[in-house]
Amino acid sequence: MKKVCFVLFAFIAVVLIGCTNPSNNDSSNKDSAFLTALPSKTAYKQTVEGKEVSLYELGNKNGVKIAITNFGGRIVSCLVPDKSGVSTDIVLGYDSLIHYLHNSEAYFGALIGRYGNRIANGKFELAGKIFSLAQNNGVNSLHGGPKGFHNQVWDAHQTDSSHLELQYLSKDGEEGYPGNLTVKVVYSLLADNSLQIEYTATTDKATVVNLTNHAYFNLNGAGNETINDNLLEIQADQYTPVDTTLIPLGKHVNVAGTAFDFRKAHPIGDSVNSKDPQIVNGKGYDHNFPLIRKSDKSLQLAATVYSPKTGIFMEVLTTEPGIQFYGGNFLDGTLVGKNAKSYPYRSAFCLETQHFPDAPNQKTFASTTLLPGQTYQSTTAYRFSVK
Ligand code: GLA
Repeated sequence: MKKVCFVLFAFIAVVLIGCTNPSNNDSSNKDSAFLTALPSKTAYKQTVEGKEVSLYELGNKNGVKIAITNFGGRIVSCLVPDKSGVSTDIVLGYDSLIHYLHNSEAYFGALIGRYGNRIANGKFELAGKIFSLAQNNGVNSLHGGPKGFHNQVWDAHQTDSSHLELQYLSKDGEEGYPGNLTVKVVYSLLADNSLQIEYTATTDKATVVNLTNHAYFNLNGAGNETINDNLLEIQADQYTPVDTTLIPLGKHVNVAGTAFDFRKAHPIGDSVNSKDPQIVNGKGYDHNFPLIRKSDKSLQLAATVYSPKTGIFMEVLTTEPGIQFYGGNFLDGTLVGKNAKSYPYRSAFCLETQHFPDAPNQKTFASTTLLPGQTYQSTTAYRFSVK
């Protein structure tokens, strides 16, 4: 009898706690039942151009779970507990590999190279020679070209549940770039909930390198309508104005008094529709911010984002000198991602740590040249918590 009473009491308690849990009434998390799981591994098992593609999972004791595929080194899912402890997927992506094979233009979650961001007219000069690249973004070359690193199968080696090593050999001449470039990327999920990405590369001929990751975040949960209520802070006093094709005009200008002032956290949407000609050129935010750097090589805070709905707080730390803040201006609801959710206009942001766009043609920007004997090194971490 005692046992029956205890079971009954426990049942009532569970029901009552369930009713008072704020997450049950929070519309932002109404679909949380769908968002707690990583995509099925079988939907990623396939041979692409003779190489095995799989889905790899990282996890830690705090309930952070991350799925990465070696096709493009893409972060497919990133589940973090929200303020009520509900596991929330905060990156855009697809349920199965086939969608990545056919829809690569958004670069969901991908490793980007050999050159992240744009190179004007798809041309640059190095050691007296002109190199021509694929012009896949109007007249410009974007994100390494159509067969950039986002569309390549990387060799993967998962050492344990918190590390995934990816390697790729980008052959001399691939997408027009000189030199055999050996690239290694290590994804590590740390105990402090950082997803750390370490990039290294070496070459056998002078080349240009600018590696980044193109994860699309929505801290309200992927598939929610907008990120305009997410609060953004960027550690930058200046940003880099661009022409109508998003090529830098060659100088940085002060953010003070402009729509680009994110020195103090405020909602992304505050000035996203301003008539500022730079917002018009970018169709919203799609600009580089040179970061205030305390020292050259250390991992340093670059930006933070916070969702008042879920309480999820993200810090971006990097060794890079710049960050591209892209506000999802080219999303239009036609791409349908995980859990059959479509991704509407401005329903995600990217914070792409990088050297500056078009640096190979802009002599005042820090050099992106890599010479034989040198090692390209770059580290970025996305750290998650709740506030
Ligand atoms: C980058 C660019 C954007 C856009 C997206 C992909 O971040 O800066 O202009 O091309 O990639 O849609």
